[in-house]
Formats: sequence, C-alpha cells, structure tokens
Amino acid sequence: MKRPFRVGYQNLDKEVILDDLPSEGEVPKWLTGTLVRNGPARWDLPKQSVRHWFDGQAMLHKFSFQNGQVDYANKFIRSNTFQSAEKTGKLTYSEFATDPCRNIFQRLMSTFSPSFTTNTNVNITKIANKFIAMTELPIPMEFDPETLETVGEVSYLNEIPMTTTTAHPHYDPERQMGFNSAIHFGRVSQYIVYGQPHDSWDRKVVAKHDVEEPGYLHSFGMSERFIIWTEYPLKAVPLQMLISGKPFADNLTWDPSRKARFLLFDKDTGELDRVVEADPFFCFHHINAYEDGDDVIVDLAAYEDGRIVKDLFMANLREEPFQPLSQPQFRRYHLKSGESHAKCEMMATNGFELPRINYGRINAKPYRYAYGLGETADRVDGYLNQICKVDLESKEELCWHVRGHFPGEPVFVEAPNPQSEDDGVLLSVVLDSDKGISYLLILNAQTMEMVSKTAVSHHIPYGFHGQYFK
Ligand code: CO
Repeated sequence: MKRPFRVGYQNLDKEVILDDLPSEGEVPKWLTGTLVRNGPARWDLPKQSVRHWFDGQAMLHKFSFQNGQVDYANKFIRSNTFQSAEKTGKLTYSEFATDPCRNIFQRLMSTFSPSFTTNTNVNITKIANKFIAMTELPIPMEFDPETLETVGEVSYLNEIPMTTTTAHPHYDPERQMGFNSAIHFGRVSQYIVYGQPHDSWDRKVVAKHDVEEPGYLHSFGMSERFIIWTEYPLKAVPLQMLISGKPFADNLTWDPSRKARFLLFDKDTGELDRVVEADPFFCFHHINAYEDGDDVIVDLAAYEDGRIVKDLFMANLREEPFQPLSQPQFRRYHLKSGESHAKCEMMATNGFELPRINYGRINAKPYRYAYGLGETADRVDGYLNQICKVDLESKEELCWHVRGHFPGEPVFVEAPNPQSEDDGVLLSVVLDSDKGISYLLILNAQTMEMVSKTAVSHHIPYGFHGQYFK
C-alpha cells in the first residue's frame, strides 16, 4: 500500500548550499535570523541499517532570512558515529535501538561506557555563545552556525556523573540559569536536576533523588518555583540493560501496574517539595507548566501508554504491515495542593505532538496559545499531517493542512513590538510527498494562514527539533 508519509524516511545524502531561493508569497522582512533544525537524515549504511527513527545520522539544516530572502544549507554532524560509519560502512557505537555487532564481553563493557554514540540528532541550543547540537546522552556537540561545520564536543568545567540527560533544557531568565534533568544508572539509580549559568560551562547539582527503576525521560516541566519531573511507567531497568545486552530501547518496559508520578523539585533549595500520582500515561514532550497559588498546572503531549516508542521503529515506518502512530493528546494535569492524585483535563480534540509556545514570553507562566502537530480526523495517513493551534481559553482549535503534505515541528517566532501572545509566525519544514521535495512554510500564528513557502531542491527527512536565533 502506498503511504505518502514514507517519503520522509528516505535517506538524504547530499549536502548543499542554496542561496536566495524563490518563495511563494512574501517572506516577512522583519525575519532576520536563522532557523537551525536537527534530525536524522540517513538510516542506511552500506553494511547496516538502523532499527529506529531516533537512530538515523544527525544532519543540521538551516534557513537564514534577510530582507525577505531565504538561504538554505545542510550538513551531517561529523560525530564519532558518522566518521566510523564512513570508514567501515556500519555502526561502531550503540544507539537508542541499534547496536553494533559485539560479543558478550564487549557488550558488558560498553553498556555504561563512553562508547555510546555522539550522534547528536535531537535538538539545538546556544550556551555561553556556543551553538550546540544535543542528544539524550550528556554530549554537547558544538557546530559553527555559519558553515554548519562540526567543531567538536564541548567539555564541562566540572564532572557530574550521569548516563542520560534530556535534549530539552529549560531557561529561567530571572535566575539567568539553564536547567536540565539527567539519570545516573547504577545499582541504585539517581534522578539529577542540574543548573548551568547562561554564560558558563560550569554546572551545579540542584537536586538528587534515588530511584530503583528509572522511567524513560525525554523532557520535563518548569514552573516559577519547580522543576517538574514526570515519571512514566515506561521504565528502564539497569540490571536488565546490563544482562540483556540489547540496545536501550529494547529494555524499556511498560508497567501498567505502576502509576505515573510528578516529582516537584524546588529550584532554589533542591528539596523534593511533593510527589503527585496520576493514572499511567507516557509522554515525550512537556508543553508548559505554571503555578496558581500552591497548585501547579502541567501541560503535556500525552499517550495512553508507551507503544509510540515501538510505532517509531523503521520497520513500521517503512514497511507493511503498518501500525498507525499512537495518538498524542493535549492533556492538562491539575496538581492541587494537598491532593496526592492529579486530575487530568483534555485541552484539544486534535492530536498534539512536537509542541511549541511563545517560550520567551510565557514559559513557566499562565498562557493562552500552544502550537503542535496532529492528525486529521479522517486518519487517512495514520501519521501527523497538520499543524494545529489551540486557544486554551476558548478551546478553539485552528489547523493548517494540505493533503499529502507532512509538516514538522512548528517553531514560533515573535514579531517585533508584539501586540499579543500569538503575534508572530510559525516556521515549519513541510514535506510535499507528491513532488518529493520539502519547503519552509511560514504561517501567520494568529490566523494559521500561509504567509509564504520556500522550496528546496530535495526532500528533508523528518527531523525532531529546531531553534530560531535572532
Ligand atoms: Co523531543
């Protein structure tokens, strides 16, 4: 069966520089920055294919804006994985769901050692004037934002033992501090919250919490006072990881007998302020969180269970039989002061994944608008095929959709002198599956109508996250 979305899972080998691309519509002249996106672009090596979407080789894509003109360039990140794959035609380092072929001794040695991949394909950030590509291992990979050349791994000034971290750090402008969460796997594992001043590569441990069976963590929430660590019943058992010799993803186990838990760590004292339970669910992406007196509101893109990790194996994405992707739901959890169980509220009827907000203005604060990807009600593609805006006050949803076109994460960019929270545009890389090419779509974030589209000469494989730099 023909499934149009599959074009986005074809490899892209070409690295190009395309200046002054023709656009349809008028690219706003006030856009004068650069959108840099990260994601996998090659899943097949001459002698080995990876098993999971998350394991493809990292490629950076940039769209630069100047005076209504759009330039594009792309480049693979020259990680250890990339370089050794170029030489050997196969993987030498462990990925999320794909291992190199190793004997049992090599496997035991590598499970908790630095021979993990530096294939930093998840997100982008800027810390202390360095542009960084990130993955879920604590490896900040610096790149040059002009040329997209890989500079190399950045070393922190201090060592904090950790095995995995998130590629979704938060920034707190009041404290001028970045926050991130990490897990240290061991006989007794630890949840670690750490802070990093905006202008330094020094880090400090904010909070530590012992845990026997850590839950898989992709992102976390942040309100004014708290780091909100959401623990799902999709757990990673360290001993099992060691014995099974299987890649990380195969050791993730859904345990429906376990509740989901919100752990609220105080950002200043590091104390565990409270733990609130919820019925089991899974989530990759927090949307926003804020406080209402002593109550805490946590918004996230939730799944009924952990099946989505399996849905995203390449065999399902590329071949029949096809299991349509699990539906992400925009959920709001109310953590009421003095109550041990969180109440869940559905905030949208459309699916909601790869969420973005007007981060600089309303992160950790009460807010009105969120943007994300969903699937049309006919579920014709079994895949994310529209961009939706949710008005959290009126619960009105506005969606942009073109049949056969598959959008990526919608990045919000605020207009100069904004008049409202949604005064700005959304930037999304969209795949036109009929033509087999991708284009940068600019949407008016207020009306969700197209402002412009700028096509490149090739398809851009589905990526994860990007950031706009002014
Ligand atoms: Co993510």
